[in-house]
Amino acid sequence: MELDKVIALRRSCRMFKTNKIKKKEIDYLLNSARLAPSAANRQPWHFVVLESERLKIADIMEKQLERQNNKVVDRSYATKNYNPTASVRESIRIIKEAPILLLIFRENDSSWVEGDYLSIGCAGENICLAATNIGLGSLWIRDVSYTKYDIAKYLGLDDMDLVTGIAIGFPKEENYQAKKKDLNEIVTYLK
Ligand SMILES: Cc1cc2nc3c(=O)[nH]c(=O)nc-3n(C[C@H](O)[C@H](O)[C@H](O)COP(=O)(O)O)c2cc1C
Repeated sequence: MELDKVIALRRSCRMFKTNKIKKKEIDYLLNSARLAPSAANRQPWHFVVLESERLKIADIMEKQLERQNNKVVDRSYATKNYNPTASVRESIRIIKEAPILLLIFRENDSSWVEGDYLSIGCAGENICLAATNIGLGSLWIRDVSYTKYDIAKYLGLDDMDLVTGIAIGFPKEENYQAKKKDLNEIVTYLK
């Protein structure tokens, strides 16, 4: 597919078919991630691919919700019209539905946090664009970060920082484009 088309067609997918994904398709996504730019070429990422084990991640998230009386408090969203509890519930449903959950971990290095987070953003977007290119849907799931210590411990990766999840699968329906800001709202041109 042409790049313009891939960028325009990439949308967050929240309804997945249960069809399995071939290993070579997953490898294509991961290879696209591997080629992403990174601050100082640190390539600070580690990817974990979960098939049926994704259900354990959903379980860890569900258990934490129960422990917190079905409430997720996220002060970073306190001023916005956003319900973190509903988001986590929906993310749990999606993790169960999509056949693959990719987790992206960051190598812990306190002197490189900002650059490494940006680098992981680049790798994650390469995954989502590559998925679109071969007809797969994707969804970033930051909601895994509320249970990042429990998940890392379960996977034996407690020395790393879980940054995000990305659910991957075949889209069940066409995904409509989320409302995007116009260029004139977000750009300043200076001569
Ligand atoms: C870093 C990041 C984290 C996200 N985390 C979640 C999430 O936890 N749950 C979710 O449903 N969507 C999540 N999303 C998807 C956004 O809601 C989505 O990108 C946004 O609404 C714009 O829609 P679009 O991706 O279709 O353009 C995340 C996206 C990004 C880039």
